[in-house]
Amino acid sequence: MERNPSMSLILFPSFLLLLLFLPSLTFSLSPPPRRHHCHPDDEKVLLKIKDHFHNTSLFSTWTPKTDCCKWRIVLCKKIPKTTIYRVNFLEIDGADDLVGTIPPLIADLPYLETLIFRNLPNLTGPIPQAIAKLPHLNFVLLNWNSLTGPIPDYFSKLTNLATLGLNNNHLTGRVPAYLGRLPKLVGLDVSHNQLCGPIPKDGGKLQGFDPSWFENNKCLCGAPLAPCKT
Ligand SMILES: *[C@@H]1O[C@H](CO)[C@@H](O)[C@H](O)[C@H]1NC(C)=O
Ligand SMILES: *[C@@H]1O[C@H](CO)[C@@H](O)[C@H](O)[C@H]1NC(C)=O
Repeated sequence: MERNPSMSLILFPSFLLLLLFLPSLTFSLSPPPRRHHCHPDDEKVLLKIKDHFHNTSLFSTWTPKTDCCKWRIVLCKKIPKTTIYRVNFLEIDGADDLVGTIPPLIADLPYLETLIFRNLPNLTGPIPQAIAKLPHLNFVLLNWNSLTGPIPDYFSKLTNLATLGLNNNHLTGRVPAYLGRLPKLVGLDVSHNQLCGPIPKDGGKLQGFDPSWFENNKCLCGAPLAPCKT
């Protein structure tokens, strides 16, 4: 192919121009702007949770205006087909100095999939109804605390729930039948509480669950545990 002289004449200056602009171009691209993934609504709620627990040491990395997605015990996830990140994981675990109840505020973290309040001897009170407003929850551990009250009925709304650990608390009342009908539930532990009464026979999967998931309660009976005395 024959070179076209007029073509290279046109190309040459534009190449020079590119060289001239390249340094400023790379300068404007680097360093890249610091991107905070934290959604402002999530930050607001997390800071209220920190305040609810009187700013104990567990929350020392939770400081305003820093990326909450990088805070300790918090993770975020990108919402598919958007550039938005939302908090999907919260693990409050192992702190003697954390005193109080589970704040209903957690209902304002609508993208939560994993919620853990664990190993908190001074976490007291009932399991708040607010949890029922979190449709994406699939992994919930509220174990090894000092929670009281019943296993709430409103967990039946959590149709994505795969794991529910409520063991080692002071929960009272019965095992609700709906637990065996949650379509995705594969792991349940309500052992080491004060539960009582027969494990419901109309509870779908309940009879097939491991007996150890129910043991060490006040007076639970019926399959998969020993038969109830009549
Ligand atoms: C926690 O810290 C924030 C400032 O980061 C402050 O406004 C708030 O009053 C503190 N709350 C408690 C209970 O100490
Ligand atoms: C929290 O619980 C532990 C262990 O049960 C206890 O020794 C401690 O005094 C409690 N702390 C507060 C601040 O209440």
